[in-house]
Amino acid sequence: MKIGIFDSGIGGVTVFTEILKILPDEDYIYYSDSKNNPYGDKSDSEILSICDNIVKFLINNECKAIVIACNTASAKAAEHLRKKYKNLSIIAIEPAYKMVHDYAYSEPTLVMATKGTIESEKFQLLYKNYDNHQTELLPCVGLANIIEEDNKEEIEKYLNYNLKKYVGKVKNVVLGCTHYPLIQDEIKKVLGNVTFFNGAPNLAKHLKNILEKENLLEKGSGTIEFYDSQNSETKKERFIQIIDKTVN
Ligand code: DGL
Repeated sequence: MKIGIFDSGIGGVTVFTEILKILPDEDYIYYSDSKNNPYGDKSDSEILSICDNIVKFLINNECKAIVIACNTASAKAAEHLRKKYKNLSIIAIEPAYKMVHDYAYSEPTLVMATKGTIESEKFQLLYKNYDNHQTELLPCVGLANIIEEDNKEEIEKYLNYNLKKYVGKVKNVVLGCTHYPLIQDEIKKVLGNVTFFNGAPNLAKHLKNILEKENLLEKGSGTIEFYDSQNSETKKERFIQIIDKTVN
């Protein structure tokens, strides 16, 4: 049996590489939903129905557990999917804001995420519970999209324009969208030496614990299948490149 991982595109690879580091022998299917990208500005019901179809696809392709490697989809669909697929382990990423509370409470922090994630009930609850009272929330409309397109010039312009006012004012940045770890260097170019908070390494540990507990850990052959909902060869190449660069 396999582990299924999905995102609205290439971003979830930043979660997948963390999983591969600690579970290299499992078999995987990565589903990149570039046809429906971006999720960040879609309505709750659209996201629910998109995610439901992806979960069905992954179940039909012999997945024993599913990782929602998209903060927006997690915030809007995880609860619903867990209720619907009761016998399936569904592990969902969320912005690592609690880590700021635990490790950097006294420091000014910027949370970058999609508009959908920031406005979601799930994130608002997390924010209320762990507020360090010096946090700015930045809905980054359109950013995941230009990362998805690998448009370096637009990314630089976007960050210069939208992050300027935080220069010298924040010490920590929560990467609340799985696309953003791909542009850490570019963010540092604008904000200087900030500390990044990313939920992916902890999610990977959590996944391993759950599989252990449910007796689902397997020594497979370490195969990785890649599906893109638009059959994009470019996406596939980029996916392989990122994995090679990060894991090998
Ligand atoms: N990578 C996604 C996230 O973590 C979604 C980006 C998007 O499709 O808007 O939120």
